[in-house]
Amino acid sequence: MADPFPAWVEALEARHTKTLSFAEVRRALQALSSLYVRRGERLAEGEALGTAGKRAAFALFYGPLHFLAVREIVRALGAGRPAPREILDLGCGTGAAGAAWALEAGPRVAVAGIERSGWAASEARFTFARLGLRGDARRGDIRDAALPGRGGGIVCAFVVNELPEDARASLLERLLAAGRLGARVLVVEPIARGVAPWWPRWSEAFRGAGGRADEWRFPAALPPLLAQLDRAAALDHRELTARSLWLPPTS
Ligand SMILES: C[S@@+](CC[C@H](N)C(=O)[O-])C[C@H]1O[C@@H](n2cnc3c(N)ncnc32)[C@H](O)[C@@H]1O
Repeated sequence: MADPFPAWVEALEARHTKTLSFAEVRRALQALSSLYVRRGERLAEGEALGTAGKRAAFALFYGPLHFLAVREIVRALGAGRPAPREILDLGCGTGAAGAAWALEAGPRVAVAGIERSGWAASEARFTFARLGLRGDARRGDIRDAALPGRGGGIVCAFVVNELPEDARASLLERLLAAGRLGARVLVVEPIARGVAPWWPRWSEAFRGAGGRADEWRFPAALPPLLAQLDRAAALDHRELTARSLWLPPTS
């Protein structure tokens, strides 16, 4: 099957540059990036997606970037085989991470997104449809999401650091419990963004449960508009970097 990624990015470009100029998206991208890098604390709800420009930058730039990073990680970990029955994408944003994993796992794998922003959930539905996936996304809170057991896949990409301490602690316990029931779990976070004091504890817990913790660096082949935005906003994503925690399926 042909890679649907380039056509998805073209569709995002058409969708998000209808009413915004390149300079407006570039400025919003810079504002969004500085929100992300200067966070030692959690972003206030809505802050990151508070303007049309930031929403466009998030959907058009970070969505595809996260897709590429997660796809490489899924390939490196062999997480597409055996294929999970379904993938639950917690804090799915525009659906990039769940979509990347589902596409590697095969056409029969459904993806379900849970997302607190109604705007992002509807973008995720667009993503799944555009990428030819069976998928849905609904507005909800990670704290209330029912997690799958045997045969299920759970991905938390670039979201655990956004949770308040108590929600993060309870999510770790719930992910480990889902793992014990036979779900596979993938957590992805940036390497270079601020401090995540919880990471060593999570890594230890995943390793203790039979999983692994990795840091990744992949060459990035960004689509032309993303490469242009990257240069114009002085961001430098010629390499994709990320770290992951992985709990494989139990046999
Ligand atoms: C940095 S974005 C990452 C989105 C997506 N996972 C990706 O990889 O592109 C974090 C997302 O998590 C969502 N989020 C944060 N806290 C949440 C919660 N408690 N419940 C549901 N969604 C949440 C935010 O609205 C945002 O869309």
